[in-house]
Amino acid sequence: MKIIRTTDYDDMSRKAANVISAQVILKPDCVLGLATGSTPIGTYRQLAEWNAKGDCDFSQVSTYNLDEYRGLTHDDPQSYHYFMRTNFFDHINIDLANTHVPDGSNPDAAAACAEYDRLVHDAGYPDLQLLGIGRNGHIGFNEPDDHFSKGTHCVDLTESTIEANSRLFESADQVPRQAYTMGVQTIMYARSILVIANGADKADAVWAMCYGPVTPQVPASILQLHTNCTVIADEAALARCPQE
Ligand code: F6R
Repeated sequence: MKIIRTTDYDDMSRKAANVISAQVILKPDCVLGLATGSTPIGTYRQLAEWNAKGDCDFSQVSTYNLDEYRGLTHDDPQSYHYFMRTNFFDHINIDLANTHVPDGSNPDAAAACAEYDRLVHDAGYPDLQLLGIGRNGHIGFNEPDDHFSKGTHCVDLTESTIEANSRLFESADQVPRQAYTMGVQTIMYARSILVIANGADKADAVWAMCYGPVTPQVPASILQLHTNCTVIADEAALARCPQE
């Protein structure tokens, strides 16, 4: 794992955008795995700025998002489909037909997950997978468990994730209780992985991801076994990690 320390959120976002932009320049028709949440918003904003300047062309890129709430339609403002449109896709020259998010509006969980696995497999898996990390060490919606998950599947969200995500809803009651998420195995198939994290509330999870034992109780810890994983995090999130 390569760890890059940044001074603050903006520095983290710019450096992460640089890595993604380099991937797109090196392979214009690359496959990107993308995440939602607060952490990547600055990265997406920076990439959109460079796209507007003509410095980062997304016209041939395809994207596969990690996860989606079960039961939300694509145009629900709380859905990850909507998040990706408003925070990224609507601001870059990507072909929307090349963007993919699990279909939370399909109530048939088995069918929705199998279809998403087929799409990601047929795309050849991401060249670069962008990840955030939950305070409990989750990646995608892969919560602490007694085994690492494999393909896309339907999960029950933990109370800590419901509480963390409730800031984006009117109340915790409105947070969907289930989601479809790429599995840990699928995430590990990406040829390179970029984890971004900021803020003191991520310090324990970032330490456990980078230096703790590899255990499904901290899903992100498996990334220690990936051959090309970079962590870009600010000082606060790296507070427990040794300076290297
Ligand atoms: C979202 C996702 C989640 C988030 C994680 C951190 O697609 O996969 O694992 O990355 O919950 O969320 P934020 O960035 O809001 O702290």
